[in-house]
Amino acid sequence: RGKRAFIAGIADDNGYGWAIAKSLAAAGAEILVGTWVPALNIFETSLRRGKFDDSRVLPDGSLMEITKVYPLDAVFDSPEDVPEDVKTNKRYAGSSKWTVKEVAECVKQDFGTIDILVHSLANGPEVSKPLSETSRKGYLAAVSASSYSFISLLRHFLPIINPGGATISLTYVASERIIPGYGGGMSSAKAALESDTRVLAFEAGRKHKVRVNTISAGPLGSRAAKAIGFIDMMINYSLENAPLQKELYAEEVGNTAAFLASPLASAITGATVYVDNGLNAMGVGV
Ligand code: NAI
Repeated sequence: RGKRAFIAGIADDNGYGWAIAKSLAAAGAEILVGTWVPALNIFETSLRRGKFDDSRVLPDGSLMEITKVYPLDAVFDSPEDVPEDVKTNKRYAGSSKWTVKEVAECVKQDFGTIDILVHSLANGPEVSKPLSETSRKGYLAAVSASSYSFISLLRHFLPIINPGGATISLTYVASERIIPGYGGGMSSAKAALESDTRVLAFEAGRKHKVRVNTISAGPLGSRAAKAIGFIDMMINYSLENAPLQKELYAEEVGNTAAFLASPLASAITGATVYVDNGLNAMGVGV
């Protein structure tokens, strides 16, 4: 049978999550999606109304099918963690079972097991503030939404990931090189995510024969990136300075994810794989 993938962090057709879903679907995987609760309504409506149909087209001409969309908020592990104001917020009250634990339970109930888990989400409320001006609350929120969310997903999904399965997250080179403008603790959150990729590769590998890798992606004008405010500058910087002076396509990240999730990558785990036209290897801009 084909493989089944759960991709957390899709709310439109512009981001890396969507591109990864397409590459996995093109390779024959069944696609399940976890969508941030406040964005669920518009995403499902747009899907239903055919707004994404042009971008659903796969290389063989067929349209990517999303078998099921689950509401998800990856900063909450179980219902006990949800504060009253969120519970009663009308964007949340309209959906149910969206904590990580509950989503894993629902997927188990609906499908039994999965083979591929993708984490394509991040959030840093103070991302536009320099690190030295970031509040404790903002820093911890960035790490909670962008780093611990992966640990939580892995923790709750690992029991239903088939042996030989793979997990992938998305990171950014700001974890290891200075990228002014990527603030609010987001650089720290990505550093944690990359370190956790190694430790979790050990734990998930030994216990479940599951691989854990992260893709360090170059700049893409996604919704999240536009909210940071400096994405056009980063894209231009990359065009001018990377070894490969070409646009970076989300599809190139998607294809790398499909490779990493496949048996072609059966010996790769704990790795940070750069998909950035080589920009990370430059020491100075020229
Ligand atoms: P995106 O906006 O398509 O994806 C981010 C998603 O995270 C959105 O769908 C948003 O609804 C979701 N999200 C935010 N908080 C959430 C929560 N608490 N629970 C569940 N979902 C939540 O943007 P993009 O850029 O494709 O981001 C995907 C990943 O790629 C992120 O980890 C990002 O840091 C990473 N990345 C992006 C780069 C870029 O230039 N766009 C560069 C390198 C890495």
